[in-house]
Amino acid sequence: MSDPNRHPSRRDAIRAGLAAGLGLAFSRLPAAAQPGSQDAAGPLITRRIPKTGEALPVVGIGTNQFGVSTPEELAPIRETLQRLPALGLRVVDTARGYGSSEEVIGRIVKEMGLRDRLFLATKYSLGGRGAAPAPSAQEARAGLEQAFARLQTDRIDLMMVHNLGGTETLMPLMQELKQAGRFRYLGISTSSDGQYPALLQAMNDLPLDFIEVDYSIGNRNAEQQVLPAAQEKGIAVLINMPFGGRRASMLTEVAGQALPEFAKEIGATSFAQLFLKYLIAQPAVTAVIPGTRNPRHLEDNAAAARGPLPDQRMRRRIEAFYDGVAKG
Ligand SMILES: NC(=O)c1ccc[n+]([C@@H]2O[C@H](COP(=O)([O-])OP(=O)(O)OC[C@H]3O[C@@H](n4cnc5c(N)ncnc54)[C@H](OP(=O)(O)O)[C@@H]3O)[C@@H](O)[C@H]2O)c1
Repeated sequence: MSDPNRHPSRRDAIRAGLAAGLGLAFSRLPAAAQPGSQDAAGPLITRRIPKTGEALPVVGIGTNQFGVSTPEELAPIRETLQRLPALGLRVVDTARGYGSSEEVIGRIVKEMGLRDRLFLATKYSLGGRGAAPAPSAQEARAGLEQAFARLQTDRIDLMMVHNLGGTETLMPLMQELKQAGRFRYLGISTSSDGQYPALLQAMNDLPLDFIEVDYSIGNRNAEQQVLPAAQEKGIAVLINMPFGGRRASMLTEVAGQALPEFAKEIGATSFAQLFLKYLIAQPAVTAVIPGTRNPRHLEDNAAAARGPLPDQRMRRRIEAFYDGVAKG
């Protein structure tokens, strides 16, 4: 049976050289920006996790391309993770299925002493389809335990069932680990509309602190039922694929277009910021987690967590602009 946690990236195959790559000297950390800290664009915007009131910066990072090993590939990842808390950001989203992403993050975070400044979210899946026998609870427990070793931490902020793969088996075990103080929050992720009915059912039936769902200017389906249900039930929401996925399709679609004049009104100086602010303005959203291995892109994305957010009228203007480009 294929491993349900395996991410279909060619980089998964490249493992050798990890230690050598991570052993490169680190440059000095810039001064930390604290949540609420001011810069020219205004204070960092945070949102509260409904179940606890803990505040999180509204922009984090996705790491499904962090499963790399060569020094050349690791250098920008190290710089990106180093910049994250310096920009005031905290949420790092990974998964067992992203090749060596968990291990790369665990190693860099440990070496740089960043653990206490980050909110580490990961995911695990038991699969869910096919004729193979379901893993036993013992195997599932062992799978969950591996996340601590891979991330080199004894406490994981958020553990999610990845794509609802084995929810019935995993959730009771995850609840035990939460009771023991080893997972701080529990959740479920998906990036497929076809799983929304099952996600909505789980939001009804299970004690979820978080969901993670796909939502972007080019795919607004989560607005119909998932986001209102999360808001009603007090479940925090992480937004995956905020640019439409790793091929960054929405940013590709607008490449070559001039940023509309109205973007200035909300302080957006790039399409990435405009599209992230569009999502952050949705009241159910706790944080967006754009994937990047590029420190310059991280800084660009982080700027969406400051300054004005679009009101309903402005959101309609952003939609009209995007729809015009996408359909034209
Ligand atoms: N089912 C699930 O649970 C699920 C599914 C999919 C994703 N996820 C999570 O969500 C995260 C985000 O999704 P994603 O990474 O697939 O897609 P995404 O965030 O929509 O797009 C990522 C792409 O955008 C580019 N990018 C990022 N910031 C940019 C900027 N400021 N300017 C220009 N390009 C920029 C990245 O390239 P560079 O690296 O060059 O910046 C990358 O190619 C993932 O990393 C993963 O953690 C979860």
